[in-house]
Amino acid sequence: MLATAAAETGIPMVMSGSSLIRLEEVAKAAPQSWFQAYLPGEPNRIDALVDRVAAAGYQTLLLTVDTAALANRENNIRAGFSTPLRPNARLAWHGISHPARSIGTFARTLLFHGIPHFENSYATRGAPVVSANVMRDFGKRDHLNWSHFQRIRDRWHGRLIIKGIMHEEDAAIAVGHGADGIVVSNHGGRQLDGTLSPLKVLPSIADHVGTETVVMLDGGIRRGTDIIKALALGAKFIFVGRPFLYAAAVGGQPGVLMAADILKTELHRNMALLGVNSIEEITSDLIAEV
Ligand SMILES: Cc1cc2nc3c(=O)[nH]c(=O)nc-3n(C[C@H](O)[C@H](O)[C@H](O)COP(=O)(O)O)c2cc1C
Repeated sequence: MLATAAAETGIPMVMSGSSLIRLEEVAKAAPQSWFQAYLPGEPNRIDALVDRVAAAGYQTLLLTVDTAALANRENNIRAGFSTPLRPNARLAWHGISHPARSIGTFARTLLFHGIPHFENSYATRGAPVVSANVMRDFGKRDHLNWSHFQRIRDRWHGRLIIKGIMHEEDAAIAVGHGADGIVVSNHGGRQLDGTLSPLKVLPSIADHVGTETVVMLDGGIRRGTDIIKALALGAKFIFVGRPFLYAAAVGGQPGVLMAADILKTELHRNMALLGVNSIEEITSDLIAEV
């Protein structure tokens, strides 16, 4: 839904490495998609996934580097969401009381794909989401280091982006290792518990990396004005996470199209109210206080 809605509106979509639909299928449906990898510090697995992503036709590979350890997401625990997924009475009641979702999402998934597996963590199929072994698929990410990033750079011939940078020194190292772009991100505040906002660290990172590297940002973009703030503070591009996920969950593909349209309309309206006619005119002059 996300990929095809993005293709329809001409917005790039980043396919998550933790996704449950095979990356080859998404590449067919929306060839402009980017692929996001979570990689462990294991050269064989790195090489195999990079080759698989290239063979599927992706041209932009994005490596997320802020998940050396998994966060303790208490909101997920409260909501009864766990990995592995443990069916329980609460989930059963949720299914009974939300028949549209049970049929439209749960039953349809089972029918077309069977029990979902982590399809894209590595070059081979990962564990099913209900398996007790599923956490093995998240292993060894804390071993990932800059030499692995260099290895990816040497092997991957497309654009290489690094996501999860929050400090200018890390940004400079990434550029030194050949990153074409950087996504300034604190993972939507879902990793380190207590961190600066990406918007706060964006100007220093943008200043540090020069014009060769494309600086992007995600986290907390909810309104057209948020996009303008990020562009004014040095981002060339922004990403939106939860709003599109919520839109897909509630409204399917039309919901995602609607969410994109709301943001686009707000952006245009806000630009008009600020008296700017093009994205290039969005500069730090528009910011009164940082
Ligand atoms: C449910 C959920 C799943 C996510 N999964 C991934 C992922 O697989 N890979 C990744 O790099 N980031 C992942 N993120 C983080 C997003 O890519 C992004 O950094 C963050 O959601 C941006 O903040 P926003 O949701 O406020 O826009 C996930 C975020 C959410 C909410």
